[in-house]
Amino acid sequence: MQSSLDLFAPPTPESIAIAPDAWLLKGFAHAQADDLLAQIGQIEQQTAFRHQVTPGGHAMSSAQCSCGTYGWVTDKRGYRYTTEDPLTDKPWPAMPASFRELAVRAAAEVGFEGFEPQSCLINRYQTGAGMGLHQDKDEQDLGAPIVSVTLGAPITFLFGGLLRTDKPSRWLLEHGDVVVWGGVSRLYFHGVAPLGKRASHAATGAVRYNLTFRRVVG
Ligand code: SIN
Ligand code: FE2
Repeated sequence: MQSSLDLFAPPTPESIAIAPDAWLLKGFAHAQADDLLAQIGQIEQQTAFRHQVTPGGHAMSSAQCSCGTYGWVTDKRGYRYTTEDPLTDKPWPAMPASFRELAVRAAAEVGFEGFEPQSCLINRYQTGAGMGLHQDKDEQDLGAPIVSVTLGAPITFLFGGLLRTDKPSRWLLEHGDVVVWGGVSRLYFHGVAPLGKRASHAATGAVRYNLTFRRVVG
């Protein structure tokens, strides 16, 4: 029998299995979203969002920067992690404690206890920006999960399989939603559809941010 105390427990956010070892935690970061957006503003003062160029010479449609010990970079030489921001030649801005705590808590919620992120890539999408299907495979430590947080305008997330040709499932990611994947699906292809013309949120206008937390080295 349930104790009446349970009536006062906060609601457990809905967790939806989207693939093997992959979950969408609806609204998991909602209560912290304002703080996370304020922290992005602080980080932006120490670095800048930039449209990085792929090894094939195409500028990415999302603007990016990183915080944490490692930042993800791409240029004509390839994809990799660096400890210094190539724009400032200084270490990447520190990862705010609230970022780390959220990522650790989200990972633990679905069974990845002890996740210690070393990098947070921040993507900023404006109308029409998206990200094609890709694998996150520039990390040496593939045992750790990926934790991905959506802030601002809603976007459609695509989650496929181990092959680029596997048909992806589609999930609406809204302000405060968190996706965690690892284990069997750690190397599954994923991406986001272009941010829609009418997509917006009171906190950000027609902009969507994504925080991607990763462990880079064992
Ligand atoms: C990524 O896969 O690197 C970003 C995906 C997203 O913006 O949700
Ligand atoms: Fe990714």
